[in-house]
Amino acid sequence: MPTPDPTQAIEALSSESRLFPPPPAFAAAANAHDRSLWDEAARGHEEFWARQSRELLHWFQPWDTTCEWNLPDSKWFVGGTLNVSYNCLDRHVLAGLGDRVAIHWEGEPGDVRTVTYRELLDDVQRFANVLKSLGVGRGDRVNIYMPMVPEAAVAMLACARIGAAHSVVFGGFSAQALADRINDASAKVLVTADGGWRRGEVFPLKAQADAALASTPSIEHVVVLRRGGNPVDMVAGRDHWWHDLMAAADAECPAEPMDAEQLLFLLYTSGTTGKPKGIMHTSGGYLAQVAYTFKYVFDHKPGTDVYWCTADVGWITGHSYIVYGPLANGATQVMYEGVPNFPANDRFWSIIEKYKVTVFYTAPTAIRTFMKWGTAEPAKHDLSSLRLIGSVGEPINPEAWMWYHEHIGGGRCPIVDTWWQTETGGIMISPLPGVTATKPGSATHPLPGVGAELVDEQGSPVSRGGGYLTLTKPWPGMLRGVWGDPARFRETYWSRFPGRYFAGDGAKLDDDGYLWLLGRVDDVMNVSGHRISTTEVESALVSHPSVAEAAVVGANDPTTGQAIIAYVTLRGGASADEKSLRDHVATEIGAIAKPKTIYFTPDLPKTRSGKIMRRLLRDVAEGRNLGDTTTLADASVVDELKRRAEAAAPED
Ligand code: WT7
Repeated sequence: MPTPDPTQAIEALSSESRLFPPPPAFAAAANAHDRSLWDEAARGHEEFWARQSRELLHWFQPWDTTCEWNLPDSKWFVGGTLNVSYNCLDRHVLAGLGDRVAIHWEGEPGDVRTVTYRELLDDVQRFANVLKSLGVGRGDRVNIYMPMVPEAAVAMLACARIGAAHSVVFGGFSAQALADRINDASAKVLVTADGGWRRGEVFPLKAQADAALASTPSIEHVVVLRRGGNPVDMVAGRDHWWHDLMAAADAECPAEPMDAEQLLFLLYTSGTTGKPKGIMHTSGGYLAQVAYTFKYVFDHKPGTDVYWCTADVGWITGHSYIVYGPLANGATQVMYEGVPNFPANDRFWSIIEKYKVTVFYTAPTAIRTFMKWGTAEPAKHDLSSLRLIGSVGEPINPEAWMWYHEHIGGGRCPIVDTWWQTETGGIMISPLPGVTATKPGSATHPLPGVGAELVDEQGSPVSRGGGYLTLTKPWPGMLRGVWGDPARFRETYWSRFPGRYFAGDGAKLDDDGYLWLLGRVDDVMNVSGHRISTTEVESALVSHPSVAEAAVVGANDPTTGQAIIAYVTLRGGASADEKSLRDHVATEIGAIAKPKTIYFTPDLPKTRSGKIMRRLLRDVAEGRNLGDTTTLADASVVDELKRRAEAAAPED
């Protein structure tokens, strides 16, 4: 696998000199307002996390050992027992907060629901009993394929309550992608819905699930929530309506103690090969990390803040910062089902105004889209309730940061640019908003309790300039492995730089010691903040009967960060148009992985040994001058591709 020099990954890291210290009033009231958390973590890494875990979580049984670290395997809070759903629900209700709103839910058509902590606890207990009645127990896997509705969180928490692991698959993924994930996890039960609302229409989720279920022998039962109201086929004995099962279920399901290292969930993410990895997260350490980061990065003030994260529960951001982090802290949040431009481009701003959202967390790709829609959209609404805004998923460019700061944050809200991954479980690098002076485009520094270092090609630490981002100390929310594939876990994350976790990102340290993330250095693209592997899209293309060979690269894109560009060689005598290939990828993986542009080419540029030169294709796709092409077997191939790319380039 070619590993480009990360210092070359970004040309325009303009020496950003603007500095935004925390506003004094914000700092004065902030949960962290000085360096004491960093000082404490420096005095004792494990003791630091032990205190957070003790103070933020309820443990049935205290642990004996804070951390067992046999690289690459870690265990946290060993010997301790807790229940994740008890921590997110019961203890708040027991503390008299049952009437506090957990979720202000808004459906895309405009229907609303208010769910209190007591109601959420009631639903979770009933659904935990439903799962039990379907034969689910400790250690089993349950797949969840849902729209953005409170029941998605209910299903996740019900799994946690009884010690089953959930595996949530984003509702935009295809039937094939769902089937692959169900089969990899050997899930017993699938929880889904008839459909959900998106862009003014119902998308038929159950029909996708049915297509997947044709090849998922491990699934014994399917629970179907009525949301879209669209017609569905129900298979007798296998498929059950959510409301029927809930009506028949017992109301009480006491939270049982679970081992701190009980598997809480699998979440599949793309790597450099075609097969997604089931990232494993366990209970105590993960919950401690998301509870801690939610409290300090989002400066959470229980009872007064109204928090809103715009992610989907199908991604790690939804797991950690819609479900577990906020609920563990007793937060009140907004959950929205649909797209930002239904019925109009100001939907998000109208939601912020309506619910008086105080803390808002979204992605750079969304911010760049809002920039395109213009400042008039947010200006129609009163956004003065906001006090803190955040960003996640990819590097945020300084222009987008400034736009966010001015037009959404009103110039007064600190911005937390949070770097982390599915694998890290929780935020790792971010400002603490009451302490850190921010620079537009920089994720600033590792959080207290996190060890991060840049290294060069040889693995020696770099204190200034570009390098590979590595994590040097175990952290409680770290992945515990790749489901069913310990060798891949070791190889992917721990082999490149001995003794260090390699995140796959390049980064740069500026003269003031600020970290600037530069994007992936492997064959993983970042499209709208979602990781997609080039190999996975290539495999999907090659599975089309007309395609002989395909090469896929991520090219810089002003809105989505990277766009998927495919170069395709058709089989002799075969024909296919761009649309049918894009649709084929959507069927294989999901609409999210559709190439933006497909170039048909009689040949792909290859080295003499037959390796496709992706770097070169990326240069062509981004309209760069080609570097060294002397290793090419046939240089004319590239001239032809360049000619085609230029012919296809937009006029602006
Ligand atoms: C990759 C992880 C973490 C939740 C969403 C994505 C990129 C993430 C940032 C940021 C620069 C970022 C990295 C990382 N990334 N946040 N603030 N600045 N890059 O989770 O799908 O596991 O992707 O997203 O490249 O490795 P994910």
